[in-house]
Amino acid sequence: MSDRRALLKFLAASPLLGGLGVMQKAFAEEAVLAAVGDALDVFDFEAAARRTLPPAHWGYLASGVDGDVTLRANSEAYSRWQLRPRRFVDVSHMDLSTEILGMKVKSPVLLCPIGSQRAFHPEAEVAVARGARTRDQLLVLSTVASAALEDVIAARGAPVWLQLYTTNRFEATTRIVKRAEAAGCPVVAVTVDLPAGRNTVTATRFRSHDTRTCSACHVVGPSGNPQPNLALKPLMAGIDTQGLGQTSPSLTWDFIKQLKDVTKMKVVIKGIESREDAALAVEHGADGLMVSNHGGRALESGRGTIESLAEVVQGAAGRIPVIVDGGVRRGTDVYKALALGATAVGIGRPYVWGLSTFGQQGVERVMDLLNSELRLAMVGCGARTIKEISASSLIDTGRVQR
Ligand SMILES: Cc1cc2nc3c(=O)[nH]c(=O)nc-3n(C[C@H](O)[C@H](O)[C@H](O)COP(=O)(O)O)c2cc1C
Repeated sequence: MSDRRALLKFLAASPLLGGLGVMQKAFAEEAVLAAVGDALDVFDFEAAARRTLPPAHWGYLASGVDGDVTLRANSEAYSRWQLRPRRFVDVSHMDLSTEILGMKVKSPVLLCPIGSQRAFHPEAEVAVARGARTRDQLLVLSTVASAALEDVIAARGAPVWLQLYTTNRFEATTRIVKRAEAAGCPVVAVTVDLPAGRNTVTATRFRSHDTRTCSACHVVGPSGNPQPNLALKPLMAGIDTQGLGQTSPSLTWDFIKQLKDVTKMKVVIKGIESREDAALAVEHGADGLMVSNHGGRALESGRGTIESLAEVVQGAAGRIPVIVDGGVRRGTDVYKALALGATAVGIGRPYVWGLSTFGQQGVERVMDLLNSELRLAMVGCGARTIKEISASSLIDTGRVQR
């Protein structure tokens, strides 16, 4: 191992090879992160997480659906836009703070709901919440989190949003919602992009390379594949999970009204990708939208979420805030999303790469890296505050680099 590192260092120092993308890739693959501060961008954590996690858990985190085309499109689509630098703006005082549906936060980057985080680190969502607390960033907790909502709120030291899977029984949904409201959640984010299953090819392949016995931790179905076991999720405590589904194929827009009738929390709809649905969401009383394709894990649409953002912003017509997630890996991606009209920008896998390798500290470092990259993008474009970021900083090349 040390010989290999020495060789990489020697090659990197070579005037012929130094600075080539191939060297960067080789270093990332080497991915020996002795200390959390060694990570220079989120990709260092990705490579380290891949080495840390068992194949089945890595496969669950890393994969999309079908051929993972949409998963890749989410990141690649950001290359369609270039930044237009501006000069001689006094950038000695930069302010990344903003407000998201009434919550003041230090950064427009929020942590998306990711289920079952004990698969990545024993402290799971509690470690993430502690990180979100020290950096004062918004956290959205998954319905199928490994940790209890109340523990996560205590660790965050401030309200978190609850992501809601609709389930297929409204009385169960109502119990979850009431519990979130009692715990002090101001917002419920209803995920609507997975009404009737998905085709998880890559995750299944990775699982077949895992030599551990899944049944030690999971309920295993007839095919031998682990099944989501809702009964084990803390948010399901006191709910009869017999026959309970995470989502329901029969729901329509009426669900939003039904939900609003049983809660005072603001309702954000997560998984909107079209102008028409954005307008319908506003008509049906949504308080906010998340442009999301579940990180490329729902429909294999082939379209990156950043390419859907403009039409959703148009459909919402300034009436409610629009958040976007999917494929955000750089501060420049965050900048582009804000310039295209997003109020905030969500990250999923990057903070889980940090969690998987260094727990709370890894999550914090991921946020620090993205915030400092965002700050530099703002400096370069002459935007000193989030409000000063505008579409005039962007050039749409109409081409995505793959
Ligand atoms: C392993 C994994 C689990 C996820 N679990 C949930 C979930 O429980 N609820 C949900 O609404 N979205 C879930 N998502 C989607 C994320 O909230 C988010 O939309 C997506 O990860 C953003 O894309 P990114 O990972 O490329 O940043 C999950 C994503 C991943 C990768």
